[in-house]
Amino acid sequence: MLRMWLQVSLLCLSCLTLPGQSQGQDRASLRRSNDHSGLCHYTFTVASPEESSCPGTSMKPEMDGVSSRLTMLEALVSRLITGVDGGPRTGTNGEDGVQEAYSQVTRERKQLEQDKERLNGQVQELQRRLAELSQEAESLRQRPCQQTDSSGVTQRDSRPASDPALNGNGAYQEMKAEVKELPASHLIPEGNHNFTGCGELQSVGDPVLHRKADGITGKYGVWLQDPEPQGPQYTNKTVWRIDTVGKDVRQLFAYEDMDQLSQGFPMKVLVLPEPVESTGAAMYRGSLYYQRKRSRTLIRYDLTSESLASRRDLPHAGFHGQHPYSWGGYTDIDLAADERGLWAIYSTSKAKGAIVISQLDPESLEVRKSWETNIRKNTVANAFMVCGRLYTVASYTAANSTVNYSFDTATGAGRAVAVPFKNKYRYNSMVDYNHAQRKLFAWDNFHMVTYDVRLGRASDDRS
Ligand SMILES: *[C@@H]1O[C@H](CO)[C@@H](O)[C@H](O)[C@H]1NC(C)=O
Ligand SMILES: *[C@@H]1O[C@H](CO)[C@@H](O)[C@H](O)[C@H]1NC(C)=O
Ligand SMILES: *[C@@H]1O[C@H](CO)[C@@H](O)[C@H](O)[C@H]1NC(C)=O
Ligand SMILES: *[C@@H]1O[C@H](CO)[C@@H](O)[C@H](O)[C@H]1NC(C)=O
Repeated sequence: MLRMWLQVSLLCLSCLTLPGQSQGQDRASLRRSNDHSGLCHYTFTVASPEESSCPGTSMKPEMDGVSSRLTMLEALVSRLITGVDGGPRTGTNGEDGVQEAYSQVTRERKQLEQDKERLNGQVQELQRRLAELSQEAESLRQRPCQQTDSSGVTQRDSRPASDPALNGNGAYQEMKAEVKELPASHLIPEGNHNFTGCGELQSVGDPVLHRKADGITGKYGVWLQDPEPQGPQYTNKTVWRIDTVGKDVRQLFAYEDMDQLSQGFPMKVLVLPEPVESTGAAMYRGSLYYQRKRSRTLIRYDLTSESLASRRDLPHAGFHGQHPYSWGGYTDIDLAADERGLWAIYSTSKAKGAIVISQLDPESLEVRKSWETNIRKNTVANAFMVCGRLYTVASYTAANSTVNYSFDTATGAGRAVAVPFKNKYRYNSMVDYNHAQRKLFAWDNFHMVTYDVRLGRASDDRS
């Protein structure tokens, strides 16, 4: 009986491996219940935005969309080849027509490729969830099933009839708690669940993919949103992107919002006055902050006036491969913005390669105060600032890595921590915190991803 239920439910889940909406993926749940004959039932539930029952044609709307666009594409191609389209097509008008048809074909093809990629991503995500749920089903199966006393049916094991977990929603609550259990959850003190103030990093969620870069120049780069945008021209929705592979990196792409980034349509390309080095740029209060190529010069580029607003050397900072993160890539100077201001993470010859943190004046780029840690910069994969605390990531290639060190600039003390961090695509070249969204932005092997982070009151937090 149990076996059958599982099989039916798994079938149900696998028939949904290609729905169009990502919402559905979040609603998969596994529940266990008892029936009147004393049998234990396990049920997978997956909410689909397009279908209410299984099995069926959950892919149909998506497939219809793709196939009608394919038909359109074929029509355009044949129009292009034969030069026939029924309309007035003489002289230059005809050429314009061909031009237009051609660019439409190109646009359509690009869109179809993107759709395919997106769908593949969703298939992978659902397959991963399927595997997780199967594993959970297996572990649940191995636990004894609990019975009620009320039905008068023969009991296989006993349990107090008053257990709230057996009543209505209670049973579901219990399951939900088990299925959704987070690795770090037992470390979080009660009362931290709605924590919105500044605090210590408690957990980093799974990476969420927003865009895969195409072409070799997308292997690594920087992408950001401004946590404190200044003008009407650019908002907190504007997405900024720099592909940093190349000799002379100066292009700053602006996308209207996350959606346009996913579609690949920038609204603007700004050309920076000085070339960019590496992936350490930060976006803060209407300016892009970055390190000028082959120098310790920091630059503030004002996005509204599209001009250089300040430039200043970061005193004694190593650059161009003197003190990079472990992945190399001239990641000597990493700029970061958080709730407490603007920071530079780097090293100097005096610090002998240990990480130095400096708080910068966002206007003038002057150093306000510096702290020296005892962690060597080239042993960590990346670093970011949250609420005036530095956090370092242990590996940029390990799928299951950790944030394993934190340094608090308020106390000047560092300590080991262990917060799981996933490098899903195995080559993470940039990690930056956005305090307005309480997310990490990262560039992991062509993939632009975000991670939700959860903060909480630290046990030793007296601030
Ligand atoms: C968390 O938020 C919910 C609803 O917003 C509220 O009822 C609850 O009291 C909050 N818990 C804490 C510990 O602040
Ligand atoms: C932008 O700011 C508005 C208003 O504060 C907020 O509601 C919205 O969630 C923000 N959007 C993003 C993408 O941060
Ligand atoms: C963090 O992990 C890295 C890489 O495994 C290791 O070299 C370093 O010693 C660790 N740091 C701490 C504070 O545990
Ligand atoms: C990473 O951890 C997950 C569980 O959190 C596990 O399923 C997976 O196999 C691990 N991957 C590697 C490469 O260790």
